[in-house]
Amino acid sequence: MMRHRTDWPSHGGEAAVLLARQGLPGDHPLLDFSTNLNPLGPPAWLAEQLMNALAGVQCYPDPTYREACEAIAEAEDVTPETVLLTNGGAEAIFLAAALHARRRAVIVQPTFSEYARACHQHGLAVSSLDLEGEAFLLDDRQAQRAMAHCDVMFLCRPNNPTGTLVSAAVIERLLAEGVEHGSTLVVDEAFIDFMTPDQRLTPLLARYPNLVLLRSLTKYYAIPGLRLGYMLGSADKVARLRELQMPWSVNHFAASLSPLLLADRAFAARTHRWFMAEHSRLQDRLVAAGLRVVPSRANFFLVQPVAGPEASDALLAFLLRSGILARHTRNFPGLEGGWLRLALRDSTENDQLLSVLSEWQDSGEGT
Ligand SMILES: Cc1ncc(COP(=O)(O)O)c(C=O)c1O
Repeated sequence: MMRHRTDWPSHGGEAAVLLARQGLPGDHPLLDFSTNLNPLGPPAWLAEQLMNALAGVQCYPDPTYREACEAIAEAEDVTPETVLLTNGGAEAIFLAAALHARRRAVIVQPTFSEYARACHQHGLAVSSLDLEGEAFLLDDRQAQRAMAHCDVMFLCRPNNPTGTLVSAAVIERLLAEGVEHGSTLVVDEAFIDFMTPDQRLTPLLARYPNLVLLRSLTKYYAIPGLRLGYMLGSADKVARLRELQMPWSVNHFAASLSPLLLADRAFAARTHRWFMAEHSRLQDRLVAAGLRVVPSRANFFLVQPVAGPEASDALLAFLLRSGILARHTRNFPGLEGGWLRLALRDSTENDQLLSVLSEWQDSGEGT
């Protein structure tokens, strides 16, 4: 795994380096607000189904993953030839880069670090398009110009780490520009399932062969260890992506469980109720706790002490000492550690975070 030059961890959930930096023991108790997983998951039936699936380890998985692709196609209202099952959203990112090897990429920043890594691995020439201001908004015109001068644009929606969402209308304008100039828009929607479905891009797939959607089941079902994701695109693009994919890339457990995960409407309903109740409550309370909060549509928040970006390191350390692991932003270009990312957890855990933040406010460190 690539390490940032200052040896900050590359992803959430990697507490050891941060604890050592603070002189805290490796077993210091921590509530993890640095990874953005659904606190209600994984679904309760998962363990039993994994046991049931054990018998299948004696066979190679179906190399086309027909059953899983059909289940996804039905859930997304697309045809199975437009679906590629992947080993997590991460493999989808690397396949999207491989499809455009040695071409010109634009990455909308600050964003998930793996797009840049995948582009470098596949020899793409990369330039950045920066989200603007403290609301991290996309400049529509600038983005259209960028589409006209690249082969592929990577855009995360809602964006990790800002939580902001580029509207479907803006995406459609970018796609139209891309059709004119032969460029593809790769939209990573790893966190889209937490939101209400009014901003879905899936209907655009039928009209824009230059749209590729990346999805992950990791965050929503809280299964980072299983490795499961998929890509949606034109049948032609998906066929080319399949050629680039390693054979049997998705293991039998992940592939056989995907139809069951997608069919679990009760889990989706519980998740929706939790999200609707906790999201706005936490957003408001974080502001009341003395933080600048980027308005988020995702299950996490990008925050900064009102005292300014310099106070973020002190807040990260205070939280860590108090048993809260936040995500630093050292390896997000443009953020340089001046912000922290906090996941939305269940109400009790969110209250624990808020109580630590209120101690921090009382300590006067954040002002
Ligand atoms: C935006 C984004 N896309 C993709 C991934 C990778 O997801 P997966 O665990 O399914 O590979 C992550 C993981 O953090 C992410 O934040």
